[in-house]
Amino acid sequence: VDPVERALDAFRAGDPVCVHDFADREGETDIVYPAGAVDEAAVAHMRNDAGGLICVAVADHVADAFGLPFLADALDHPAVDDDPEYDDRSSFSLPVNHRETFTGITDEDRALTIVELASAAAAVDADPGEYGPEDFAAEFRAPGHVHVLRGARDGLRGRTGHTELGLAMAEAVGAAPAAVVCEMLDDETGAALTPADAEAYARRRGIPYVEGAALVEALE
Ligand code: 5RP
Ligand code: CA
Ligand code: ZN
Repeated sequence: VDPVERALDAFRAGDPVCVHDFADREGETDIVYPAGAVDEAAVAHMRNDAGGLICVAVADHVADAFGLPFLADALDHPAVDDDPEYDDRSSFSLPVNHRETFTGITDEDRALTIVELASAAAAVDADPGEYGPEDFAAEFRAPGHVHVLRGARDGLRGRTGHTELGLAMAEAVGAAPAAVVCEMLDDETGAALTPADAEAYARRRGIPYVEGAALVEALE
């Protein structure tokens, strides 16, 4: 079966996918879930088997409705310098917690924040123009423990990070415009997991592994 089809079938079922971006970009593989499907076990899976930062990518129009800027545009500090080696800019917006969390970091708390971000993103699409920053603020507070990422305005045509790759999969399966991404790190070395090791992990666990290039080709 075609890797893109396998990945989309998993995503449609609420199951994770391993997505390697590009050898000449980050060269990282993220575990990616549709945000609405995340539960405590999924958060534990990402922190144990991926180990990177757990982030929720939302589409540009959703971030607009939420009133969430890029973090680099919102901060006025001399350390702000959003010029990574691997791309033109990061996609970081604010880190948030759902208001019904306690510290915000536990699996239970992060799962709640993530699933509620997905339902808020779905609410934006269900009733365009109705959900605004005040609605977002009634549900979430910042700073928090789940990093929101803001997708490029033209999706994969504007940027081909895990942010946009995850959002393109969500759009392709008709899920809410919100995807969770978490980088896979090597437990021994702490380096990014190599594509070969990420693919072997995915095969062992029955998780689809897909290349960013294949997703761009199929979904752009
Ligand atoms: C947040 C990141 C990760 O690389 C994540 O994959 C999203 O970023 P990008 O869209 O740049 O790949 O920096 O932990
Ligand atoms: Ca680990
Ligand atoms: Zn990435």
